Amino acid sequence: MLRQRLLRLLKENKGEYISGQKLSEQLNVSRTAIWKHINELKNEGYQIEAHRKMGYILLSEPDLLTYEEVSPYLSTNFLGKYYMHKLVIDSTNNFAKEIASNVPDGTVIIAEEQTAGRGRLGRSWISQKGCGIWMSIILKPNIQPKEAINLTQLAAISVVKAIEEVFHVESKIKWPNDIILNNKKVCGILTEMSSEIDKINYVIIGIGVNVNCDNFPEELKGKATSLYLETNSKVDRKKLTASILNNLEFYYNAYLQKGFEYIRPICIEKSITIGRQIKVIANEGEIEGKAVTIDNNGSLVVETKEGKRLSIMSGDVSV
Ligand code: BTN
Repeated sequence: MLRQRLLRLLKENKGEYISGQKLSEQLNVSRTAIWKHINELKNEGYQIEAHRKMGYILLSEPDLLTYEEVSPYLSTNFLGKYYMHKLVIDSTNNFAKEIASNVPDGTVIIAEEQTAGRGRLGRSWISQKGCGIWMSIILKPNIQPKEAINLTQLAAISVVKAIEEVFHVESKIKWPNDIILNNKKVCGILTEMSSEIDKINYVIIGIGVNVNCDNFPEELKGKATSLYLETNSKVDRKKLTASILNNLEFYYNAYLQKGFEYIRPICIEKSITIGRQIKVIANEGEIEGKAVTIDNNGSLVVETKEGKRLSIMSGDVSV
């Protein structure tokens, strides 16, 4: 695509002028076409100056999670190769569902803002403009539908690893899929699936990370936070997005090749739930007890006061 190639050239020469003539020669298009695309880029927030004799100079890029901005940090083979970016959308998970059957495995949908972001258990997910990572990943794994729960855990460890890699802070996982920093939630994961009895059509992993958000509604203040509020520094959303995808592809491949056993020790090491007295609202009803471990299937093992051990596949945990 011309736009992408033009942007690459401007980025390679960032801070230096590159003449319209040179651009038009290298891209094999007219100078008018270059000028048109430059104007489009400027409208999107790229700060580009034009000088009659010297040409164009890229001064800064916008804080957007477009493919052009995220891909320089991406090292995946298939995840995010098909990548859609929206400025506003109701919910990336909703959109992912609409297109899932017609797009390749590993498709990523990212929005700057969601007007009807969804959380687990029918809750809503606040997704203000430009302050977080609101993304959905479409996967088409050849695993049994009951194993899809493990994909949520893969996503959770990928987010924890990415936060560690990019910001050098350790977050934890509240089983199965909330990411916790200083006892408050920075990220939530909503996994949805379309399947037949023994075959998955697709899984949508929706990840919402509160990155640079600096205000939460009163009722969430004690529970929700952002990386910015916890680390006191603005965070590079582009690097974090790419790192989540890089980690997710790595752990996903490892999981498909070696099974959940490979992932399990990391889930246990990063768990904030294990060792605690908890209450879980699960399909089986309300269960109280001590979270003991995560078993080979990814279920949480809870020991009740009667000494009975129960394996819970999914549920809402409170401490
Ligand atoms: C939760 O903790 O309840 C899950 C929150 C999941 C939020 C993300 S943001 C991107 C994707 N689109 C949605 O509508 N929800 C998920």
